[in-house]
Amino acid sequence: MNGTVELIIDGKPLTLPTVVGTENEVGIDVSTLRAKTGCITLDPGYGNTGACKSAITFIDGEKGILQYRGYDIAELAKKSTFIETAYLLIYGELPTAAELQGFSNQLTRTQMLHEDLRFHFDAFPPSAHPMSILSAMIHASGAYPSAENRGKCPKDAFPFQAARLISQVRTIATSSYRKAHGLPPTYPKSNLKYTENFLHMMFSLPNEEYQLNPEVVKALDLIFLLHADHEQNCSTSTVRMVASSKANVYASCSAGVCALWGPLHGGANQAVLEMLEEIHNEGDDGSKFLEQVKNKVGNRRLMGFGHRVYKSFDPRAVIIKEQCDKVLAQLNVSDPLLDIAKKLEEVALHDEYFVSRKLYPNVDFYSGIIMRAIGIPMDMFTVLFAIGRMPGWVANYKEVMDDPDSRINRPRQIYTGETLRSYKPMAERV
Ligand code: ACO
Repeated sequence: MNGTVELIIDGKPLTLPTVVGTENEVGIDVSTLRAKTGCITLDPGYGNTGACKSAITFIDGEKGILQYRGYDIAELAKKSTFIETAYLLIYGELPTAAELQGFSNQLTRTQMLHEDLRFHFDAFPPSAHPMSILSAMIHASGAYPSAENRGKCPKDAFPFQAARLISQVRTIATSSYRKAHGLPPTYPKSNLKYTENFLHMMFSLPNEEYQLNPEVVKALDLIFLLHADHEQNCSTSTVRMVASSKANVYASCSAGVCALWGPLHGGANQAVLEMLEEIHNEGDDGSKFLEQVKNKVGNRRLMGFGHRVYKSFDPRAVIIKEQCDKVLAQLNVSDPLLDIAKKLEEVALHDEYFVSRKLYPNVDFYSGIIMRAIGIPMDMFTVLFAIGRMPGWVANYKEVMDDPDSRINRPRQIYTGETLRSYKPMAERV
């Protein structure tokens, strides 16, 4: 490609520039299309639309490649931690020892919620889904100013806000769980690392301290790390959309939580377990269910399989599967749902229906299984995804804010409704 493409509209040629990324993906820059021709591009679901340039995450779905800031996900999974990776995503480079310590200190300093926020938790009904609590509480915590930020411009306040959000999402998440289950509140402990603290706040009781199992801590830290960013997915695009209006980081990320909630996105890990429960309750071992999926009975889908971008394999699924096997072996869990999951995986990986459509297990298939094995309740699965994704949202928010050319996101549409008509009085309406 020579840097331009020619588009012919009604016989008239139009030359459009191309944009080439550092991994040689090519985009056609159509930003002048409407001004020059009156036409827009139509791409429902945005499968062919590059909404921004970004230096954070690279994915090649055909080859199963995922890189954060140029580092392969498998290498990060092996050598890094969730918190180090969070720093990498937000600030672009792996931290020095001093930078990591500084980041970690900031996370510790900001881990407590403003005590008044407890009253917000009390206002939710016991049946509230923790994702709705999470989104509302992230937004609410933005309303509590911190003395540390007083008088600072948004750019100078950002490092503190970023750390506060990443640290507090975990405190909010565990508080929503405790509230929903009628458990007394827990507070974070400064001597525990990020993921350890999450487990402590989830499961410790006033009369019984939660015993940390290193394999469980590792598995959960890995789940967070593998979910930390994923390029322009539905929730991250939502965060960028909100950020483009110059809304604050809390408003932008709380919108990301809402977008993540849906079962076709972050809600898939919960949907996987719901599907397994349904199969089990019907006395099926998975075979009948798979037949229904293949025959599209009731449009059933094998949840945790397939991905919009990955069409050969999900690299995160490969990594998490290994850890999943280790955790299950270590905890020696006997669970009929896990047996069904293994059977579905085994059959679907060799079945023509799934193979021909390039439907492989995605990260949610295994992360759901691990979370169940370590005792995380099902309605918290997507909340854990949100904790993991927070650094990615924050990094994308920063990228929008730092971009001097950033414009408010405002797509167009092709209108298919009625053309102009006159108001009909009530008496004439049938
Ligand atoms: N089970 C059964 N069939 C499926 C599945 C599935 N999980 N996913 C796709 N298909 C079939 C479709 O029915 C369609 O079949 P057809 O060609 O006979 O009509 C074909 O595969 C293509 O499906 P699309 O919906 O066009 O695929 P798309 O790329 O748009 O969807 C998605 C991706 C939404 C992830 C889909 O695979 C799905 O619904 N998976 C289950 C939900 C899930 O696990 N989501 C998590 C995604 S990962 C994440 O968010 C972290």
